[in-house]
Amino acid sequence: DKAIKASDTPYPMDVEAGKSYFWCACGKSKKQPLCDGSHSGTDFSPVMYSAIESKQVFFAAAKQRQSNPFAMVVTQKSNRVAE
Ligand code: FES
Repeated sequence: DKAIKASDTPYPMDVEAGKSYFWCACGKSKKQPLCDGSHSGTDFSPVMYSAIESKQVFFAAAKQRQSNPFAMVVTQKSNRVAE
């Protein structure tokens, strides 16, 4: 099964240090970029992202990537988008 493309642009999110976020891998969630349970019955399961620091991260939305699903994290130091 291929994941559904939720959006062409990544979702910015302000994450809080110490909190965990469940990234939607299937693309079906209505609460993008996070999982809302809509993956049930598919081969997909959400991927946990644990925030080490409070900052804005960009979660991938196209859902076509098999590895490193978070795809883009803007590093505060360089302010560059890293894959
Ligand atoms: Fe997509 Fe849960 S809704 S992984």
